[in-house]
Amino acid sequence: MSERSFVMVKPDGVAKGLTGEIVSRIERRGLEIVGLKKTVMTREAAEEHYGEHRERPFFGELVQFITSGPVVMMAVEGPDGAVAALRTMMGATNPLDSAPGTIRGDYALEVGENIIHGSDSPESGVRELGLHFPELS
Ligand code: RTP
Ligand code: MG
Repeated sequence: MSERSFVMVKPDGVAKGLTGEIVSRIERRGLEIVGLKKTVMTREAAEEHYGEHRERPFFGELVQFITSGPVVMMAVEGPDGAVAALRTMMGATNPLDSAPGTIRGDYALEVGENIIHGSDSPESGVRELGLHFPELS
């Protein structure tokens, strides 16, 4: 069985020139990138993408940040457990808590600018890929 995650290099990661490093880590892990594009997320897509956080105090800042510049979006496929494995590779949401060797633990310090997004479950992967990669479904 296989599953898919929606992975995104956020505007800070793209601006820091980390796209290649992140793509490389995903490939070297043995996961398959089945879709990839560089784009600026629309406000509408950002509000839909982060809809679960709509009532949180940081929602406005989050939408502002994620639409502030180009992002690199990926559809990543692997065996059962791949979505969770990608979350482990990303590290904890707050980079101050992220282990060294993880992407956030190696390249970030602020919770609001934490370099990378990855779906938090296979179900979220389906939802997010439907939103950002409708051509794949
Ligand atoms: P993401 O969705 O971006 O992959 O991050 P995540 O699952 O690790 O964390 P999540 O709880 O979904 O939060 C989404 C993004 O909101 C920002 N955040 N700020 N100021 C705060 O307390 C706070 N909490 C979360 C982070 O940028 C996080 O990635
Ligand atoms: Mg999340």
